[in-house]
Amino acid sequence: MLSFDDDFTPPDQQKTDALAAKPAQPAPPVQQSSQPSQQANAPVQQSAPVQTAVSTEPAVLTQAAQPQAKVPPQQVETISFAPDEAPGAGVTGVETINFNAKRLRVDDKRIINCRADLNQLVPFKYEWAWKKYMDSCANHWMPQEISMARDIALWKDPNGLTDDERLIIKRNLGFFSTADSLVANNLVLAIYRHITNPECRQYLLRQSFEEAVHTHAYQYVIESLGLDEGEIFNMYREVPSIHDKDAFELQFTQELADPNFNTGTPETDQRFLRNLIGYYGIMEGLFFYVGFVQMLSFGRQNKMTGSSEQFQYILRDESMHLNFGIDLINQIKFENPHLWTPEFEKEVVELFDQGLELEYQYAVATMPRGVLGLNSSMFSEYLRFIANRRMKQIGLPGKYDSAKNPFPWMSEMLDLKKEKNFFETRVIDYQTGGALSWE
Ligand SMILES: [Fe+2]
Ligand SMILES: [Fe+2]
Repeated sequence: MLSFDDDFTPPDQQKTDALAAKPAQPAPPVQQSSQPSQQANAPVQQSAPVQTAVSTEPAVLTQAAQPQAKVPPQQVETISFAPDEAPGAGVTGVETINFNAKRLRVDDKRIINCRADLNQLVPFKYEWAWKKYMDSCANHWMPQEISMARDIALWKDPNGLTDDERLIIKRNLGFFSTADSLVANNLVLAIYRHITNPECRQYLLRQSFEEAVHTHAYQYVIESLGLDEGEIFNMYREVPSIHDKDAFELQFTQELADPNFNTGTPETDQRFLRNLIGYYGIMEGLFFYVGFVQMLSFGRQNKMTGSSEQFQYILRDESMHLNFGIDLINQIKFENPHLWTPEFEKEVVELFDQGLELEYQYAVATMPRGVLGLNSSMFSEYLRFIANRRMKQIGLPGKYDSAKNPFPWMSEMLDLKKEKNFFETRVIDYQTGGALSWE
């Protein structure tokens, strides 16, 4: 059983989740996101990524888990970067190859504004990012492997669901089916270019694929239930509470996607951080949670179990995205402490306040009356509770410390390993498919 705490899984517990169904497997020490200084200064073991990368071979794992020598300094003594780049912003990875340039030095790696070669994944500096990439791969799933048969029968039964229940399902499909596209756009069109570290980019590429899987999952549910696709996919342009959340997020994407935007000054670096907080902290950390609670509540009542399970898998992925984002934000803070000014902190708190109000309005609009044992005042409390956690995770003071979690059962929702088949629908336990002959 995971000790998943409502909506946040510390990095070491994520590992437990991802690998729960595997035989005991030695793993490198997990570095806590709350201590970026340890991450940044940790000695780099050249073989650590190798042991993870060949995780289908337990014998190799055992061998590789032993302490390894550090990278010989002569291999990494200097950085290589394109000479025609202007100072300020970091490189992008598509600069002219500087033939015979001196080799990459791990200590020159930085999350933003890095001038070192971005096309060399190793030596690792941010092992937490690589580990999250590996854990995410171990959690692989696809929407069509979850049976929707019971959902289809229930949805088509005129007496199967109340109007309020149908409204919740349609509104959530309306929000999520376009929201994951917004997240994916932000990843590939806005932030990827400005993340100047290959370990983190590796994770962003995996996350981008997962966002595509999520959009696929919503489409799969919409198609299975025979819903009006035009109605659902247009909700972000036609339903105010959905539109308002998306418009709030799009402002962050638009300013970074501007081709004239570059990091490299305190002002633009703060705008970049603001985007990360807006998406990881507020979109994936707050705006998804009314929907997650609502959709998982169906499964708890043995209704719409396939749809609920789709959301359960998505919640697990999103928890990882959130935790990666928190590590990323904290690492950038650690490397650029001058960015976290009192004025910037105030701006971030105001963003969370706006996000809280928008998500509460969404709760009211999806659930005008109490249903499924839920009501909007419970969400008011819940949203303050999780917003408080998000703010504290990135080093802000707790603003809603007294808020309580009215949905403690959410803590069980990440536990998706085979033996704990919560909804008794089909669960594929992906740990990389047929390659795992030892399982
Ligand atoms: Fe997603
Ligand atoms: Fe996500």
